Amino acid sequence: MKKMFTMLLMALLPLGAMAQNKSSRTVQAAKQEPITQVIERGLKRAASQSLLLANSMKNHPDQLPQTYEHGELKTVRYDNWVSGFFPGVLWMLYDYTNDEQYRRLAHHFTEIVEPAKKLYNTHDIGFMLYCSFGQGYNLTAKQYYLDVIYEGTQNLLCRWNEDLGVFRSWDFGKQWQYPVIIDNMMNLEILCFMSRQYDDPYYKEVAEIHAKNTLKHHFRDDFSSYHVVSYDTITGLPHAKNTAQGYSDNSAWARGQSWGLYGFTMIYRETRNPIFLEQARNIATFLMNHPRLPADKVPYWDYDAPGTENGNCLRDASAAAIMASALIELSQFDRTEMGPKWMELAEQQIRTLTSPAYLAEEGEQGGFILKHGVGNMPAKNEVDVPLTYADYYYVEALMRLKRLQSPALNGGGQGSGQASRP
Ligand code: GLY
Repeated sequence: MKKMFTMLLMALLPLGAMAQNKSSRTVQAAKQEPITQVIERGLKRAASQSLLLANSMKNHPDQLPQTYEHGELKTVRYDNWVSGFFPGVLWMLYDYTNDEQYRRLAHHFTEIVEPAKKLYNTHDIGFMLYCSFGQGYNLTAKQYYLDVIYEGTQNLLCRWNEDLGVFRSWDFGKQWQYPVIIDNMMNLEILCFMSRQYDDPYYKEVAEIHAKNTLKHHFRDDFSSYHVVSYDTITGLPHAKNTAQGYSDNSAWARGQSWGLYGFTMIYRETRNPIFLEQARNIATFLMNHPRLPADKVPYWDYDAPGTENGNCLRDASAAAIMASALIELSQFDRTEMGPKWMELAEQQIRTLTSPAYLAEEGEQGGFILKHGVGNMPAKNEVDVPLTYADYYYVEALMRLKRLQSPALNGGGQGSGQASRP
């Protein structure tokens, strides 16, 4: 009898444990803030913080915000790679609020970036002009914005090497013959935009060749990527694979991995070439399954940096924001069982970024939105600070989510996710 009772108890125990697990999951789910509320909270904070930042910029005419360090606002000129992000944030907030005040501010800061159209010594024309003038054009259809993009893109084309099939990233670094960084994938979007606007396939053709060569030479077997690949101008093959901002040549620098994920998702959207979707899925799988991706899904600044094994390492909010925005778009293209999983991961990241651990309090951080970014750890530059590009991709991710929650809103600017419709 006693034996029978013990057997019955043992048979029922797992059911009891399951029921307990289920009920604690139900309580957890019931306690979780609805994602629509998270999105609104994030966007409202972004809107109020950005007004504060715009106001402090009055003391820095002709400059754009970069970061806030040791209680001090740091700004840059139009020719810094980050110049277009704050105007872009303001455009997206104009899209969100429909409030003229944001349009005026967005236009004002966009104008400051205008001289960047004359630059021919950087590949970052895409970041500078597409995030500012591109956002402005997509929302207002103002010809002047398109004209600036046109001029800037002609200079970007000067960096195209027909024989190598890539755009040159940097003009510095004597050890490199023809350096291309993974970030450069992001500068292909402005080229695809040009093809659409001017009905000229050339821009997109060269963008696609660059993406194919990046796919071939930048990735390791596990789908992590090198930061810098330099091409031998005689053989056309890589002669060096290094890092500049990561922990080591062979490590997975977190923001670089996010640029790759975003870049291949975007180039798939623009070309519909399935090899790019496959590459984006492979990168996303590497990141999602990474043993050192923390439970709250905000990556360490480098997946291989010392301290990642015991949680004693700085996070990079910008890597999380870029990754979340990319995953939201990828989730719409990927028709396999992984589609909803990309979205789930992105939502987890957005929830973490919208928590007090990362979201600046009202009036905090000089008006920047997110805390805890890492710009350039090896150079000890911008370490554990807000970053204007972390804010940009965070707001973009929120707007993309918002569009998906309320499809009736579709038809806004690029940051709204409109361009990301499959
Ligand atoms: N493109 C430079 C960076 O990601 O820091």
